[in-house]
Amino acid sequence: MPVCFDKVAIAYGVLEKALFGSSLQLMRCRYLNQIEDSKEILLVGEGCGFFLKKLLEVNAEAMITVVEPSENMIKQAESRVPHKDRKRVVFCNAAFGQFVPEGTFDVACTFFFWDCFRENQTKALLPRLLNCLEPDGLLINADFVEPSSSSGRRFKISHFILLRILYGFFGFATGIESTRVFEIEPVALGNGFIAKDTYMHEKLPFKGQVFQRRFVKR
Ligand SMILES: C[S@@+](CC[C@H](N)C(=O)[O-])C[C@H]1O[C@@H](n2cnc3c(N)ncnc32)[C@H](O)[C@@H]1O
Repeated sequence: MPVCFDKVAIAYGVLEKALFGSSLQLMRCRYLNQIEDSKEILLVGEGCGFFLKKLLEVNAEAMITVVEPSENMIKQAESRVPHKDRKRVVFCNAAFGQFVPEGTFDVACTFFFWDCFRENQTKALLPRLLNCLEPDGLLINADFVEPSSSSGRRFKISHFILLRILYGFFGFATGIESTRVFEIEPVALGNGFIAKDTYMHEKLPFKGQVFQRRFVKR
């Protein structure tokens, strides 16, 4: 079954607020100050456009490309773009695997996106995304974290149960096949990126990360 977020698009924001209040949005915006002056920004799997709205407020110049396969998510995101900014936001209604970029980007942002994919899917998609970036380009990511020893934290049963419930719901409602969060850091590091910063939420199983492409002189 193909993955489709159309059915959950309208309820997504309400569900997010009910479960996490403003915490998810704070994670998305944690590194916003690093891209205030960026000129070409790629948002992959942006969903309803919560981050896009904030980005347009702090960066008045950037051209923004949004790659999002759900039509209903795109409608929501479009409704959050002020009239004056319409010309600098391009919506590409496609899965990232089908996206053919016209140039490179200074920054790519992925928020609560990689958790939709199984390990083999992430290993195929992430290098493709990293290749869309300039030689010193940034990848800004936020996602859920599995409560395992590798996360550097004490195992929390409440986080484990929360993630299983979310996967149960989204698996049923959208068709995603993944059942656990696969950590992207080893794949990013293996593809010539360095980890510039990582932030673990104090109470919730979220994590924010900034990776930068290692500049190689030719
Ligand atoms: C869990 S939602 C996250 C939405 C938003 N980024 C957020 O922070 O809440 C995952 C989003 O990724 C999109 N998506 C799923 N598969 C995708 C793909 N192959 N390429 C691009 N986007 C995809 C979905 O349509 C959905 O909007």
